[in-house]
Amino acid sequence: MTQTNNQSVTDDLHARALAAAAYIRSVAQHQPRLGLVLGSGLGDFADHVQKAVAIPYSEIPNFPVSTVPGHSGRLVVGEIEGVPVVVMQGRVHAYEGYSMSEVTFPTRVLGLLGVKQLIVTNAAGGINPDYGQGAIVAISDHINFTGRNSVAGPNEPRFGPRFFDMTHAYSPDLRRLARKEAATQGWKLEEGVYIAVFGPSYETPAEIRAFRTLGADLVGMSTVHEVIVARHMGIDVLGLSVVTNMAAGVLDQPINHEEVMETGRRIAGQFTSLLTALIPQLANNTSAC
Ligand code: HPA
Repeated sequence: MTQTNNQSVTDDLHARALAAAAYIRSVAQHQPRLGLVLGSGLGDFADHVQKAVAIPYSEIPNFPVSTVPGHSGRLVVGEIEGVPVVVMQGRVHAYEGYSMSEVTFPTRVLGLLGVKQLIVTNAAGGINPDYGQGAIVAISDHINFTGRNSVAGPNEPRFGPRFFDMTHAYSPDLRRLARKEAATQGWKLEEGVYIAVFGPSYETPAEIRAFRTLGADLVGMSTVHEVIVARHMGIDVLGLSVVTNMAAGVLDQPINHEEVMETGRRIAGQFTSLLTALIPQLANNTSAC
C-alpha cells in the first residue's frame, strides 16, 4: 500500500467513526465517560440504565449489526446511579464475517464520544477447574489466539500510536475495586487469563488441554480485539467473564449456545448488583484515568 493509500484508509475510518459519534450525540445529550459492552446472555443489564435513550445499531451511521441470537444490537445511553454511561447491548464478532475494523468500530466510536473507562463483558468457557459454572471472573490478562490483531494495517495517529504497551491491558486498579465490591456483596470475584479463539465452533478437548498448558483460565470468542483498540486509544479496561459452561472436555458433556445464554440469565441478578455498585466507584476513581 502506498503512503497516500494508507492516509486515505485511516482518514476514512476516522471520518466514519466521527459521523457515528456525531449522530449519537445528536440523539442523546449525555456525556458518558464510561462505556460498557454486554456479552452473550448479559444484555438485560441495559434495562437498568436510567434516563435511557436506546438507539438501534442499524440507525447509527456505519455501525455493524450482529447476526447472533442473544445480541440485541442497541446502544443505550443514559445513567447508572447518576453516572453517565454508554452501553452496547450486543456486539459483532469476527466469526460472523466482520473485519477487524468492523468488530472494533464501536470501540472507536465510544472513544470519540469521550469514554475513558470501558467495562467489557463476555460469556466464556471455564478452563480452570476451580471455577464453577456461573462464576464471574475478572480478566487479569489475555492471550490473543485468534490469529488477527485489530490494529494491524495503517495506523491512525488521531486514535493512538503505532506501537503501544499491553502490560496492564486490564487495569489492576479497576480490578481491585471490582474484587473489593464483590467481597462487600459476600462473594469472591475470581481472576484469570482469557484466551480468545476465532470461533464459532467450540474447542476440542485437546485444544482446551493445550490452552491450559499455555496458562489460560477462560476461553471465548470476543473481547481481545476491543481491548487492543481501547488500549490504543488510552482507555482503561475492566474485563468481566461469566463462566457460562465448563470448556470442552472439562466435564464429559457437550456445549451448546442455549446453555451459554441460560447461565448468563441465571447470574443476571448478581451481575447487575456488582455493576450497579461498581460503576459509581469506577467513575470516581480518578487515579485510574
Ligand atoms: N468456548 C468459546 N467461547 C465460549 C465458550 C466456550 O466454551 N462459552 C461461551 N463462549
